[in-house]
Amino acid sequence: MKILQINASSRREGANSTRLANSIVERLKASHSDATVSVRDLAAHPHPILDEAALGALFTPAEQRTPVQAARVALDDALIEQVQAHDVIVLGVPMYNFGNSIQLKTWIDAIARAGVTFHYTPSGPEGLIKGKTVYVALARGGVYRGTPNDSQVPYLKNVLGFLGMTDVRFIYAEGLAMGPEAAEKGFAQAQADIDAALA
Ligand SMILES: Cc1cc2nc3c(=O)[nH]c(=O)nc-3n(C[C@H](O)[C@H](O)[C@H](O)COP(=O)(O)O)c2cc1C
Repeated sequence: MKILQINASSRREGANSTRLANSIVERLKASHSDATVSVRDLAAHPHPILDEAALGALFTPAEQRTPVQAARVALDDALIEQVQAHDVIVLGVPMYNFGNSIQLKTWIDAIARAGVTFHYTPSGPEGLIKGKTVYVALARGGVYRGTPNDSQVPYLKNVLGFLGMTDVRFIYAEGLAMGPEAAEKGFAQAQADIDAALA
């Protein structure tokens, strides 16, 4: 089992989403003695945003790219190759202002590549990152699970599914900003979710 842990908090230290992602990885390692783990910490090593220069590089044929453009595309290539090379993906995902962190968005923007990780067929789009199990560890100050205000889970199911990752298991730590009792309950619920997701 090759596990890839993506830490998508803005925080290198003390991130609740990273703490949960660590818990998931520890549990996987405990039940799979052959497991290896790669960690990409997007706070410590930010991936560049998909800006005009990056789009220009991506849309320039490889043989015509400048060295700067080739280097920019290579950064995305590395993330694509990394995800393709692992069986299990563990995402640590904070909620910031009802959305995902910019760190997570840069990772998604990097791995979504037409013709490489998805393509269109006569019957519609087909995701090409197949055969993965994805665990998404959500950390939130409030409580949104199963409500229309949960703006992250539908998006993540959609975009990961579009790329071919259809086995996606969500772990929720919610209420973390609602006082110590609520936070304790939130972490306990997350542990129960981990138990269910790994059962
Ligand atoms: C800038 C910022 C925005 C936040 N926005 C929300 C929010 O919209 N909803 C929510 O429930 N919690 C919100 N929170 C609380 C975080 O979700 C919570 O602190 C969580 O632990 C963040 O994950 P992390 O610890 O992995 O960084 C926000 C926190 C910060 C710092």
